[in-house]
Amino acid sequence: MKFDILLGLQWGDEGKGKIVDVLGGNYDLIARFQGGPNAGHSIEFNNKKFILHLIPSGIFSPHTLNLIGNGVVIDPAVFRKEVESLGIPVEEAKKRLIISRKAHLILPGHRILDAAIESDKGCRKIGSTLRGIGPAYTDKVARNGLRAGDIFSADFEARYKKALGEHRRIAAMYNFSYDLSEYEAGWFEGIEMMRDFKIINSEYLVNNLLASGKKILAEGAQGTMLDVDFGSYPYVTSSNTISAGACTGLGIAPGHTGEVFGIFKAYCTRVGSGPFPTELEDDTGEYLRKKGAEFGSTTGRPRRCGWLDLPALKYAIMINGVTKLFLTKADVLTGLEKLKICTSYLCHGTETTEVPFDQDNEIIPVYTELEAWKEDISRFKNYNDLPASLKEFVAFIEKNTGLPVAIISTGPDRNQTIFR
Ligand code: IMP
Repeated sequence: MKFDILLGLQWGDEGKGKIVDVLGGNYDLIARFQGGPNAGHSIEFNNKKFILHLIPSGIFSPHTLNLIGNGVVIDPAVFRKEVESLGIPVEEAKKRLIISRKAHLILPGHRILDAAIESDKGCRKIGSTLRGIGPAYTDKVARNGLRAGDIFSADFEARYKKALGEHRRIAAMYNFSYDLSEYEAGWFEGIEMMRDFKIINSEYLVNNLLASGKKILAEGAQGTMLDVDFGSYPYVTSSNTISAGACTGLGIAPGHTGEVFGIFKAYCTRVGSGPFPTELEDDTGEYLRKKGAEFGSTTGRPRRCGWLDLPALKYAIMINGVTKLFLTKADVLTGLEKLKICTSYLCHGTETTEVPFDQDNEIIPVYTELEAWKEDISRFKNYNDLPASLKEFVAFIEKNTGLPVAIISTGPDRNQTIFR
């Protein structure tokens, strides 16, 4: 049996949570494989909105198991708050959610270090969500991390104190002052709650499930252009957001990969700093931000908005081995006079369709203009009923990427989804 992967092809916030929620019923297990509480996956149903940061988006389905895989970094304080905000009894959440023993913990000191290091970056700030992600992954790779499985060991508190001492020492080098007491109390309450959840060697679970014919969906966080290797480095997150990250972040061999669903918005957004060739710093950008409610679900920051960037999309398709495209937020483009899609870049006078290595230099997007539409598409249920110009927009993307657009999302609710 193969496992499927669903991930973002842009800079995150492509609407992954909603699509996982829509597809969730087809899967026995939904697994997060990287990132942590920097993510914010929004799900809306029955006129209620939920934002998930750590917990996989299958949690609302009583028949789906959810796994926080080894590649994720967990902040216990966030974990506890999130479990309590689900609207599901904790006893029920315990049945639906499993944690990998090998998932690393975000310690309170990691949040301090995130803030200290970011504030020291001056004009080259990443725009981090400041959730401690970078320092937690740094400790993982430096072999100093504490893992979920460690919370049961007798010397856990001693190891915690040692790590905290080290974090305080580094923060002092940045002359960074802070008060941890309140956060630390919430963090330990989170540890207490985690002790009641199933924390297991989840690489055996996922492989046994696959061997017995069960269906697994790996749910990506952030987006391909924020991948630590292939994103717009250094303006990236600290994990592998790409399909290969699903293998290392869950312990499933690459040969077991089935479909790779690539999600992209009909336009682009980015939170935080870093290159964004098609960014619109004008009325159209403002229109997209307002109409698309483009404000970070984790930090509330306004997202930068711009036209769809095909070279970046094709790059993401290549790196991930995408097999099907899912288009989201097509409804946000409704009402614009004209649409633009970037098809290549001009770098120092030379036209290229490759994503440049040094994106700090000037990149001028070359655009193709397409007709827009005026109809409210959020009420349509069938592809054939959609306006001709939206179908042309979709056909243009399919022709240029060589992939089918299998889902078109026309609004935030589960029901506003068109399958083809
Ligand atoms: P960090 O992962 O919090 O350190 O943030 C690194 C960069 O990735 C910043 O530009 C963040 O705004 C961005 N980022 C992190 N997580 C997300 C996400 O879930 N969606 C969109 N951008 C994100």
